[in-house]
Amino acid sequence: MKKDRKGIILAGGKGSRLYPLTKTICKQLLPLYDKPMIYYPLSILMLSGIKEILIIVSPSQKELFKGLLGDGNEWGIKIKYAIQKEPNGLVEAFIIGEEFINGSSVALILGDNFFHGSQLSEKLKKINLQNRNTIFAYPVKKPESFGIVEFNKDGNAISIVEKPSNPKSNFAITGLYFYDQSVIEKSKKVFPSERGELEISSLNQMYLEEHNLHVELLPRGSAWLDTGTFDSLQEANIYIRSLEKRQGLKIGCPEEISWRQAWINDDQLKKIAKKFPKSDYGDYLINIMKNKDKYNL
Ligand code: DAU
Repeated sequence: MKKDRKGIILAGGKGSRLYPLTKTICKQLLPLYDKPMIYYPLSILMLSGIKEILIIVSPSQKELFKGLLGDGNEWGIKIKYAIQKEPNGLVEAFIIGEEFINGSSVALILGDNFFHGSQLSEKLKKINLQNRNTIFAYPVKKPESFGIVEFNKDGNAISIVEKPSNPKSNFAITGLYFYDQSVIEKSKKVFPSERGELEISSLNQMYLEEHNLHVELLPRGSAWLDTGTFDSLQEANIYIRSLEKRQGLKIGCPEEISWRQAWINDDQLKKIAKKFPKSDYGDYLINIMKNKDKYNL
């Protein structure tokens, strides 16, 4: 029987670009409007249909993450934690996660990546069930800061280079990656780059050379936002606030996602909501339940 895909959220790193905000608390626990940042990538994995998730964190933050998310039981999922001692590169996630992955396929998402867009969850659900290695490309103004994909004239990806000084396109590879079981074996073959990191672009290049990687373009109407600087963090806050205020629906609410997918029932959701009696967040959970037939989104 085919094993379900596992999910990994990489939420380590030093967050030094956001000092002093990140001096004691890591970036992925900072607020992004009305929730901790990690809620958003966690929601993306859950929307994809992934229920077993490993969160990789730096040593000083493990207890904070555990205090926030626990073992996932309340949300109908399973969460485990692992430590990355030093930020040695994104590929290390698969080496640290080898035992957890245990022969399954896997999706990795970076703990500071924010995705939003119409039809995104349907797309992710399909990709999760396919056997195809899939990553996502998104146009950016400053391609020098990302992993950049080059396409041939037929629109097929032919190279992926990390932070190129002469970018071959302005399509960045986003921080969400769907891979097969061979990812661990491949990860072990990646050598550190000049900046001393195990680069995800090297791993993607290996898949490309095997003609075994699909690069999906995120549609123009979708958002992939940065949270790496004070300004981009603020802009992401504004984006989320604007949409939530306008629609009265939350972005990246794991309790709601779980309930809508019937991973938890009304009683379980009510129980969670009761824990936040003075917060709008708790009211929201009660309201979506009351308006079940109105907003079946
Ligand atoms: O955001 C997409 C980009 O992410 C891709 O286009 C690039 O190909 C990829 O290398 C990565 O580039 P960044 O320069 O944004 O990676 P950064 O070092 O900032 O790390 C991204 C997040 O992952 C950050 O929140 C810290 C965390 N991290 C990073 C490293 C290197 C870890 O948890 N452990 C690590 O070892």
